[in-house]
This record gives sequence, structure tokens and C-alpha cells, in this order.
Amino acid sequence: MAADKQIEETIRAISAKDTSAAGAYHALSGDARKKVLGALSADGLKTLTRLIKDAKKKSFAAANKRFLEIASGAVQTPVYLLDETLIEENMRIMQYIKDRTGCKILHALKAYASFATFPMMSRYLDGTCASGLNEARLGHEEFKKEVHTFGVAYREKEFRQILKHSDSIIFNSFYQLRKYGKTARKSGVEIGVRINPGHTEVTTDMYNPCAAHSRLGIVYDTFSEEFPKYTNMVDGFHFHAMCEQNSDVLERILKSFEKLYGPYIKGLKWVNFGGGHHITSDDYDLERLIKLINAFKKKYGVQVYLEPGEASVLNAGVLISSVLDIVKNEAEIAIIDASAETHMPDVLLMPYRPHIMKSAQPNEKKHTYRIAGPSCLAGDVMGDYSFDQPLKRGDKLVFTDMALYSIVKSTTFNGINLPDIATIRDGGKVEVVKRFGYKDYKNRQS
Ligand SMILES: Cc1ncc(COP(=O)(O)O)c(C=O)c1O
Repeated sequence: MAADKQIEETIRAISAKDTSAAGAYHALSGDARKKVLGALSADGLKTLTRLIKDAKKKSFAAANKRFLEIASGAVQTPVYLLDETLIEENMRIMQYIKDRTGCKILHALKAYASFATFPMMSRYLDGTCASGLNEARLGHEEFKKEVHTFGVAYREKEFRQILKHSDSIIFNSFYQLRKYGKTARKSGVEIGVRINPGHTEVTTDMYNPCAAHSRLGIVYDTFSEEFPKYTNMVDGFHFHAMCEQNSDVLERILKSFEKLYGPYIKGLKWVNFGGGHHITSDDYDLERLIKLINAFKKKYGVQVYLEPGEASVLNAGVLISSVLDIVKNEAEIAIIDASAETHMPDVLLMPYRPHIMKSAQPNEKKHTYRIAGPSCLAGDVMGDYSFDQPLKRGDKLVFTDMALYSIVKSTTFNGINLPDIATIRDGGKVEVVKRFGYKDYKNRQS
């Protein structure tokens, strides 16, 4: 179909609230999408947002069936199974935010670094954000777009290498800016400072970048005293103050940020709103995010960056494991080939109870089991779950939402092997992209 005709058809589908409109919009080129957005009224834009969210929800519901089908087949366990089509659904939401606001979105490598899916992700996003040399290098080599590095404190022997792989470097203190700023300038890398925006609503201190005594981000008192000496050395401000939160929280953070730091933004090139935006969750208010970014850009005339990690792969991967044995100690305990301690450490750290497909809370269904890992750690337990049928040795269990902060955090503690990493591409084909073994364990010991 000719481009103009495609644009017309898409606008018509949106106006008719036709469910095909989301797919039609995503299939357009960047210029054509711009034309569609330009032609829509405020109500039309809201309709498009809703249609895009509904389409995404539908794809994810269909994929849950696919995960179960694959688990019931001959797949070797344990395995992290990443569904590239679902990651792409998440990417489309990000692209839509970019289309509506002109902001740039970076993927935070700390949450997910399985580069097998980077060629697809890099078609949508502007680059990656890194926490140090290894992530900066991976982003540069595999994502091949912008790299923005924030390190809590840089090591002298790594700094030049980090610059080689980065487009911007963000400092956590004025000492670090003084020490490394000139070198960064000379190499043409942009410079930012991370500040504490003065507001946070994260309730778990372990995950709260702005908790009392946090080392993450320069506090306002220090900033206001020191920043005037460095204005011509700084291109941007960075803050990160959220965790799995909605745009109403961002609105309150921005209010505090603007009150404290607004007077210093003039002359900067960019402001980075960090990560923790749960952009791709069903209840996320996209319209509010779009409104906030557009208002900020209009007021300050700077480029806005977001750097979510979790949202890129939210609900797009599972960990499939097999029941190895069932033992009894008053309760029935199923021992599986995946470990909470080594394969999903956030389960113990946060802590939280991961969801297992086709299971319910203990005693809600007929057969209740404690699900536990194979390591020696007494607390290597995912939780208590109930099932319609009794569990048998060899049964597969599918843990949902395991692409994020799991593969990147896994360990070989206790000599336990790392799970395979496999992808589903083109809506069905499973490809094992990485298999680990004894060498990976041995290489980490001396
Ligand atoms: C500086 C920074 N940026 C981005 C992120 C990504 O956050 P999330 O994965 O919650 O979106 C984090 C997470 O800790 C972070 O510390």
C-alpha cells in the first residue's frame, strides 16, 4: 500500500476504535507515524494509547499459552526462555512514548543483558545505560548505539576505557567531576552529574536510591554550594529515584526536582529521569508520562532521557524447571532443578514470591507443596503453592517474569550449573543461545 494510503487507513482505524489500529500504527515508518499523530485530536491520541495497550495485553495473554506448551515438550531444564516477540511488544510501547514526546530511551543493562535480542531492541531504543566498564563495553559492542555510563565511583585504571565505550559519563560527586572531568571533555564525551531529586516513594530501603544516607546522587546542599564552580563543565543532570512505579510518582519527583534544581537547568543539553518507570505494565499511565515529558521539554528546552531496565523485558521471559524429587517433613516439599539462591536471587533478597503458572496460593487448590531449590542453603525456597493435580517427579514448573534481574544476577554458588538461555523467535521457534557447564563454574574460582 502506498504510504499516504497507509496513513489514511491507520487514522480511520483509530477513529473507529478498531483493534487493528495498533498493528497498523506500529507497521508505519517513523515519518508516517508522525503524520498520524499530527492528524489526531487529543481524544484520538488517547484512543490510540488505549488501543496500543490493549493489543499488547492480548499478545502477552496468547504467549502465556505458548510458554506452557513449550514447557510440556522436550525442553531441557532449567532454562531461561526469552520471548523475543514479547520483548518487541514492550519495545513498541517505548517507541510510542518516543513518538509522542521526542524523548530518548536507553535500556538499562543492569536489568537484562542477553544480547541475543539486542539487534531487535536497538531498532527501537536509542542506546543503553551502563554502570561501569563491562556494561559500557557490552552496550557499545552489542547494542551499537548511544552509551550513557553512570558509575558510583570510577577506578582510575578503567576510566579511559570507559570513555572509549561511552557517549556520556555521569559523576556521582564533585570530587569525581574534578578528577576526571577534563579527561572526559578532551575525549569528546558529554558530562553529567547525578543528583538526589529530594523526593522518593520507594518503601523498601534496599531498593530506594534516595533512602536516608544514600550514597547515590549529590544532595541539594552540596550541589548548591559546589555546582556554580562547574557550570561550563556539565551537559546534563541525571536522577534515579524510582522502582517499579507509575507516572504519578514521577510527577511528584519532578515537582521536587524542579523546585531544587530547576534554576540550574538553563544551558544544559539534557536531563535524564533515570529508571524505575514501569512503562510496560498494564496499569501504567502512559498519557501522564507523555504529558510530563512534553511539559518539561517545553519549559526547559532540553532533551529528556529515560533509562528503564525492567520495563524492556517485563513479563517477556520465564524460567522453566523440573521437579527432581518430592520429600515430606510434615509438609510436602518439591525439590526442583532451579534455585532461588543462584537463579533468581531477588526472590530471597527483596523478598518476593515468584508466580508459577497454573498454581495458586497454598490450599487454594487441592495439592499444596513447598517449592525449593537444590542448593545446600536451608532458605533456598521459592514459597508455598497449590496445584490442581499432585506434582510428580519430572513435572515442569514455569516461573513467570524471569527475564529481568535474574540472568544478570545468577551465580554458580554451590557448583550449581547456570540455566540455559533460550529465545523464542518468530512466534514459536525455540533456540538455545547459551548453555553453561563445568568450565563456567571453574573459571570463576582460582
Ligand atoms: C541509575 C539507574 N538507572 C536505571 C535503572 C533501571 O531501573 P529499572 O530496571 O527499575 O527500570 C537503575 C536501577 O537500579 C539505576 O540504578
